[in-house]
Amino acid sequence: MTKLVLFGITGDLSRRKLLPALNNIFENGRTDLEIIGVSRREVDVAALLGEAGASALSNITRVFTMDLSNGEDYLGLKKDINLQNDDHLIIYLSVPPDAALEIVELLGKAGLNTQNVKLMIEKPFGSDFDSAKEFLDSMTRYYNESQIYRIDHYLAKEMAQNLAAIRIDDSFLDNIWNNHSVKEVKIIASEEIGIEGRNTFYEQTGALRDLIQGHLMELLALVLMDKPKSLEDVPKLRSAALNNIKIANPSKAMRGQYETYKEEVQNTSSNTETFACVELESESNLWQGVPIHLITGKALDKKLTQIHLTLKSGKDFVIRIQPNEGVEIPQEIKDFDDGNLEDIAPSSQFKEAYEQVFLAAINGQKSLFVTSGEILQSWKILAPIQEAWAKDAAGLKIYKEGSTIDYIL
Ligand code: BG6
Repeated sequence: MTKLVLFGITGDLSRRKLLPALNNIFENGRTDLEIIGVSRREVDVAALLGEAGASALSNITRVFTMDLSNGEDYLGLKKDINLQNDDHLIIYLSVPPDAALEIVELLGKAGLNTQNVKLMIEKPFGSDFDSAKEFLDSMTRYYNESQIYRIDHYLAKEMAQNLAAIRIDDSFLDNIWNNHSVKEVKIIASEEIGIEGRNTFYEQTGALRDLIQGHLMELLALVLMDKPKSLEDVPKLRSAALNNIKIANPSKAMRGQYETYKEEVQNTSSNTETFACVELESESNLWQGVPIHLITGKALDKKLTQIHLTLKSGKDFVIRIQPNEGVEIPQEIKDFDDGNLEDIAPSSQFKEAYEQVFLAAINGQKSLFVTSGEILQSWKILAPIQEAWAKDAAGLKIYKEGSTIDYIL
């Protein structure tokens, strides 16, 4: 039996993504599941599951009410979980980082960290290098590396996984996957939505931390990593790829804010960026000299996440992460490829990212999860931009909702 303890079961992420993902997993036959939500207050479980579209889980879900700061209550939780020898426990923290620090310590002190326990944690992993280090180190006081599953759901998106797989399988790709053939790497995550009521969170976060530091840096790592032999190699190769990236130069970064943002968050002096574009460069032999642009923004004209390699021949190699997952492969590459490139195309069987994340954690497949080294290196690369942007609003470009990236740049 897999027992899943969900801290933050009533939260936004849980309702929108986690419970629906678990519902699908359950309906697809993974019925050896028990879900124990943890909450400070009483919860109407049937109503919560109904709202989340996860009513199939009603017979296997209960909520344990407790004071998250009280060590005694964790002993009560442990008793309630009642872990048997052949059970396997996953603890999922979908809570703000400050709360997560305390919860991990109290879980550890209550002995909920034995070898049959896995800990899944969500971003934000800190808000800068120092806070991330403190956060990540605190986990390792009570859990060893093999037990910790740090989530970046972009790594679990279908085309991101296909890219990793194709990098393993396709030897022809290696001929063009370098600075001899590639002129520019551009990764964009354009969103149509604004901040959707997450005012306090977003005011402290901004686009650089929210999308670039984690999601886009991880996609970049998949592009720049050396050819993996197997999926198990991927995390350490991603990490090595990030270690080769030069610390960012703030004069090559640009930020923007959508016009109604200040009013929305009721802060007339807010400098928080809802759009960010950073230029990076790798020092690896394979990628040196190729400009890399990571671009993201909210309240833009459309939802589009894609990896775009402009080749020196002038043709584009595009991997569309979402929506309409797919690839555009220049004919000149198709002509010489050994056939494996076709495997990068999406499949109709594919499961949504959070479903993948849960299944990978249940099955102990760690290649979809992020190492501490990657997170820290990513903060280190972006630190000069964070520092420059924290000082004042110089260069903050105000844009109209629905703008295109090209217009803002
Ligand atoms: C989250 C960010 O991590 O990713 C959100 O906090 C963003 O601001 C979301 O909207 C985008 O994820 P997806 O899967 O919808 O592209």
